[in-house]
Amino acid sequence: MNQLSPSTVPAHVAIIMDGNGRWANARGLPRAMGHRKGVEAVREAVKTAAECGISYLTLFAFSSENWSRPESEVSDLMGLLKAFIRRDLAVLHKQNVRIRIIGDKTNLSGDILPLLLEAEETTRANTGITLVIAFNYGARDEIARAARQLAAEVAAGRLEASAITSERIGAALDTAGIPDPDLVIRTSGEERLSNFLLWQAAYAELMFIPEFWPDFSRDTFVAALSRYAMRERRFGGLQPATTLATGS
Ligand code: IPE
Ligand code: IPE
Ligand code: MG
Repeated sequence: MNQLSPSTVPAHVAIIMDGNGRWANARGLPRAMGHRKGVEAVREAVKTAAECGISYLTLFAFSSENWSRPESEVSDLMGLLKAFIRRDLAVLHKQNVRIRIIGDKTNLSGDILPLLLEAEETTRANTGITLVIAFNYGARDEIARAARQLAAEVAAGRLEASAITSERIGAALDTAGIPDPDLVIRTSGEERLSNFLLWQAAYAELMFIPEFWPDFSRDTFVAALSRYAMRERRFGGLQPATTLATGS
């Protein structure tokens, strides 16, 4: 962290936490153990991000496509998310962390939705790092929901079709008010976005790192931030942008 200067620390880092299953397989353990270990890596990542001066950390926790996994694994993942909120919400709140949930909140069964809303509500006024949890999230679904909402406003006569700008679309997404990610990290060596933040990551720096998510340590995170500091961002222009935080 010492070598990171505040001016090169990204304002928003988004992480595709991948490789829990392979981490477990490599040790002859059930996949559930990989997910469990992954929660520990989440705690460390939030702490590291806050200490490094990152303002927004988005974590891809469960995709809209992950429902296609075996029922037992889906249930393990739901159980872990619920346990995480139940156990860690008070600590995160005390650490001044603000929690935002992105993804489709409709049709969630059981006690998951109340817990997600409680996490957002409890931490709403906090002023520290914003932890954005992408749950039941898929970028195409997010964009389709935004399009439906805008279309409904046009149909109701409240919005001119010509007023649908990229800013207006951005404001209709789940990430409204959150700056675009500067850096998207994916662990486990896979080099794809898997339907994550397709709109928002338009100019994000992409970083694919070989470690499986449960091995994503503070050192790994800081090394990624150091590599990011060397990147030259141009945003379509000819000169490197003078500021690394894009806002938007
Ligand atoms: C990431 O690890 C966790 C989720 C997608 C919920 P995986 O479960 O995808 O692990 P691998 O990719 O099978 O190793
Ligand atoms: C992306 O990982 C989703 C999360 C990390 C929550 P996946 O493991 O689901 O992605 P694919 O299937 O390998 O593309
Ligand atoms: Mg995976």
